[in-house]
Amino acid sequence: MKILGMVCSFRKMGNTEIAVKAGLTGAQEAGAYVAMMRLTDYKIEPCRGCMTCVFKKAPCPIQDQAHQVYNTLLEYDGLILGAPTYILGPTGLLKTLLDRGMGFMYGYGRRLEGRPALSMATAGIPGWETYALPLNALFLRALGYTIVDQFMVYGQGPGEAVYHQETLERAREKGRAMVEQISQGKVEYLGEEGPTSCPYCHNSLLLLGSSATVKCPNCGIVGNIKTTAKGISVEWAPTPDRWTEEEVIRHFEYQVLPSGPKFIERRREIRERTAPFRQFSPPSPGKE
Ligand SMILES: Cc1cc2nc3c(=O)[nH]c(=O)nc-3n(C[C@H](O)[C@H](O)[C@H](O)COP(=O)(O)O)c2cc1C
Repeated sequence: MKILGMVCSFRKMGNTEIAVKAGLTGAQEAGAYVAMMRLTDYKIEPCRGCMTCVFKKAPCPIQDQAHQVYNTLLEYDGLILGAPTYILGPTGLLKTLLDRGMGFMYGYGRRLEGRPALSMATAGIPGWETYALPLNALFLRALGYTIVDQFMVYGQGPGEAVYHQETLERAREKGRAMVEQISQGKVEYLGEEGPTSCPYCHNSLLLLGSSATVKCPNCGIVGNIKTTAKGISVEWAPTPDRWTEEEVIRHFEYQVLPSGPKFIERRREIRERTAPFRQFSPPSPGKE
């Protein structure tokens, strides 16, 4: 069994590396072969929106190292993800990688489906990490991983995470648990569930709708807010989780693929109607 650690921070021996290594230690203790990838060691360009991966179900034509990163993910039975919080959310590197992963989400099949992942986000200041875990969860769920646990690891200066031994111990314990879950063929969430957490990504960052309804922005499921003696809770309606294999395929086949022929049919009209925008070319600062 092989477990991969993915460090999304540039800082060597920073808090993210420490958190990921704590998780990998547990996985190794449970008998797994472990390896650690620093995402900053790979050249990953932004997606160019050509849609080759979806419309042609072909590999992305950009010749960089995103392919190598995804092929590495495929080689490992589980993932320990660590991303630093930059301006309230994970570093953009993670989103850049995810945008390049649409082929894995649909084009070449969801080959990461059901593999376990431990998600950790590092941050300097409690309360300044709103999108960190929810966006880590988006990365993982979009690629088909099942989250085993997710939590913050605090530390401002590089290495200061060592002052949070309990959290590092949690990482180690969950690294170990992940390996045991794979051996037993039962991968499931072991973290704390709050009364308002989404049952799929397990986050409580929710969109508030009218008439006391909420929606999980990651998973798309909806629910009703209930007031109980203990406070509020969410009663989730049986709406589909958008990241199941079935829903992902449905999304691409019924919502994305038909946009291709529709665009071709309207191409001439679009060209005519976009003429004023083509003719208007403001200067690009520094590029004239
Ligand atoms: C550009 C930048 C933005 C940051 N923004 C936040 C933030 O919004 N909230 C926070 O709590 N910490 C923030 N931090 C602090 C880091 O999240 C923190 O130092 C973390 O431990 C870094 O992980 P590392 O040591 O693995 O690089 C920021 C750091 C940098 C460099």
